[in-house]
Amino acid sequence: MDEHISEAIGRPDLIRLDDGLVCLRFETMKVVSALAAVRRLLDTGAVRRGDTLIDSSSGIYAYALALACHRYGLRCHIVGSTTVDHTLRTQLAVLGAHLEQMEPCTDLKLDQKRRVARIREILADHPDYHWMRQYHDDIHYLGYQAVADRLHRETGAGALTLVGGVGSGASTGALAHHLRARSLEVRLVGVQPYGSVTFGSEHVADPEIIIAGIGSSIPFGNVRHGLYDTVHWLAFDAALAGSVDLLRRHAVFAGLSTGAGYLAARWEHRNDPGRTVVFIAADTGHRYVDTVFARHREAARVEDLAPRPVSALEELALPWSRMDWNGAPAPRAAVAA
Ligand SMILES: Cc1ncc(COP(=O)(O)O)c(C=O)c1O
Repeated sequence: MDEHISEAIGRPDLIRLDDGLVCLRFETMKVVSALAAVRRLLDTGAVRRGDTLIDSSSGIYAYALALACHRYGLRCHIVGSTTVDHTLRTQLAVLGAHLEQMEPCTDLKLDQKRRVARIREILADHPDYHWMRQYHDDIHYLGYQAVADRLHRETGAGALTLVGGVGSGASTGALAHHLRARSLEVRLVGVQPYGSVTFGSEHVADPEIIIAGIGSSIPFGNVRHGLYDTVHWLAFDAALAGSVDLLRRHAVFAGLSTGAGYLAARWEHRNDPGRTVVFIAADTGHRYVDTVFARHREAARVEDLAPRPVSALEELALPWSRMDWNGAPAPRAAVAA
């Protein structure tokens, strides 16, 4: 029996959608990461019960950290972007987490920079607060070890391709790292939006709304570029088609980064049917009802979509590109200081 709801929420489902195509489905992915990170901080004496943890978040990390703080008796202070919606704001308030939401800002880079600047101001006033730095501190890799163990147990020792959206890089990076540590043959496929510095797509703009949670306009230390074999870039429209098809065909109700990952996973599976392809579903579809699922009649047929193969970042083009990354280092704009 679980001791706290966060343990249940953090435990993913593994669903075989097709022969060789598996969905690793989380209700809220970062809960498993935040729980383990906070537990490590308490165990090492870096923080004590009653202390305040602070970080910046565009959504699911805020919820994850609030749950971990509730579980372990800590205070939680979030500097959130405008993507923190009414449902999450209300839950955070009742959970006792303090949310400071930034003014609306259409420039993502400016929004991310302003949030970091605001955290620095708060830390100057409260030097006793602990800054979690989800984008940089690899303490966020720890929680995925148990998930990797389970994946290993349930998918066997055969060749595996892991596909997932890259935001902070912790989930895909940690799962690949822990699986490879068991000497499994794992190919890692990262999924990106256009307009992100992380894998060098900042020069291609997606005219539609951004895919929450993946990509970045500033460098993140937790992305280990050398771990990735392949990268797919998907535009909003393609991700929408993926999310709608995933619900229609497999009854999995998940968000846009999952829809993008599902398309990439289908493609990788078709290209190399001998491998088991596991893709990550990081959150549920609730946040996307109006912007994605209500538009289901506009969705392209996934069978009609295919990535443009590119061999250099200058060739990237909407709505879907795929490139062999081959463990290349971070592009210059994505090197964390
Ligand atoms: C919906 C969604 N998908 C994928 C990711 C990427 O996860 P990670 O930060 O572990 O790279 C995030 C991170 O915020 C997310 O919110």
